[in-house]
Amino acid sequence: MTDRIEQLEREAQAAAAVAASSAEIEELRVRYLGRKAELPNLLREVAQLPADQRSAVGSAANRARRAIDSLLDQRAGELAVSELDARLQAERVDVTLPGDPLPAIGRLHLITQTRREIEDVFIGLGFNVAEGPEIETVSYNFDALNHDAQHPARAWSDTFYISDEVLLRTHTSPMQIRAMELSPPPVYLIVPGRVYRRDSDLTHTPQFHQVEGLAVDEDITLADLKGTLLAFARAIFGPEREIRLRPHFFPFTEPSVEVDVSCFNCSGGVVAGGERCGICKGTGWLEILGSGMVDPNVLAYVAGNGYDPERVQGFAFGMGIERIAMLKHGVSDLRLFYDNDIRFLEQFA
Ligand code: PHE
Repeated sequence: MTDRIEQLEREAQAAAAVAASSAEIEELRVRYLGRKAELPNLLREVAQLPADQRSAVGSAANRARRAIDSLLDQRAGELAVSELDARLQAERVDVTLPGDPLPAIGRLHLITQTRREIEDVFIGLGFNVAEGPEIETVSYNFDALNHDAQHPARAWSDTFYISDEVLLRTHTSPMQIRAMELSPPPVYLIVPGRVYRRDSDLTHTPQFHQVEGLAVDEDITLADLKGTLLAFARAIFGPEREIRLRPHFFPFTEPSVEVDVSCFNCSGGVVAGGERCGICKGTGWLEILGSGMVDPNVLAYVAGNGYDPERVQGFAFGMGIERIAMLKHGVSDLRLFYDNDIRFLEQFA
């Protein structure tokens, strides 16, 4: 009887040693110590044994039961630790990895897209890009740019003044002066930025965006202006485009011109079906910007920095970013740019 008890203990030991999981240990506990297992049955039957065997068998069986019990506890404990290790290893999260990329929501606003397109064209032509202050002095915004004292744009009804001397710039042109004060010629620069005027209707908002252009060197002519703006017009509106210059007036350019690009929607003002083109209103041309040769009076203002009007000359231009975007994409109402209606914005991927 005690032989059988020892055999059971060895069996249980061997089985526990190869058990691979704490679940298997619990199965062994049932097999060796459960209600229907051999060893506990033996113990229950000890009372029926002859008196001289009772105590030997009883104590051997009890000892074996306790030994198996504690052996199983110990193996279960060991296995639980390595199972936890394995789980921690498998479920490990590396918090230093970059997060999943955000789903692609949103896009650049059409004004930003258009600004960047314009910048790319001029960077490709060798221009630099700079920005300037939106809060300007009357001196940079008007005086240095050759506006006479009576110029209508100076009126309080047209311009946002902060004081008699300080205003919200009405155009990006003051950066012509600041740029020439900062570095001597040559200068090839564009200046994107916000500008402000006291205007509000279908085609005017109190704040809008311009890109200024300035090229000053020793041998710049109106032909350079035309060639530069033709390259620009073709890059933005298509390689078939032509441009034309119409005489105009700006205080800081002489001569001054307004620049039109040939309509990209029709030929000579007439669309395919023979009807009058709605985009150029039948004229065949779209006005895109103002420009001209830098007025010698403007150069004289910065002559001390190498801009002697007898030695250097240049051209300047200024365009509205909204206007370019409206023409290019057929946007009918300027205010759509600022309503932030997703149905409008998402059309421009
Ligand atoms: N500053 C002018 C405007 O806002 C545009 C312009 C810039 C014209 C440079 C000529 C030269 O209307």
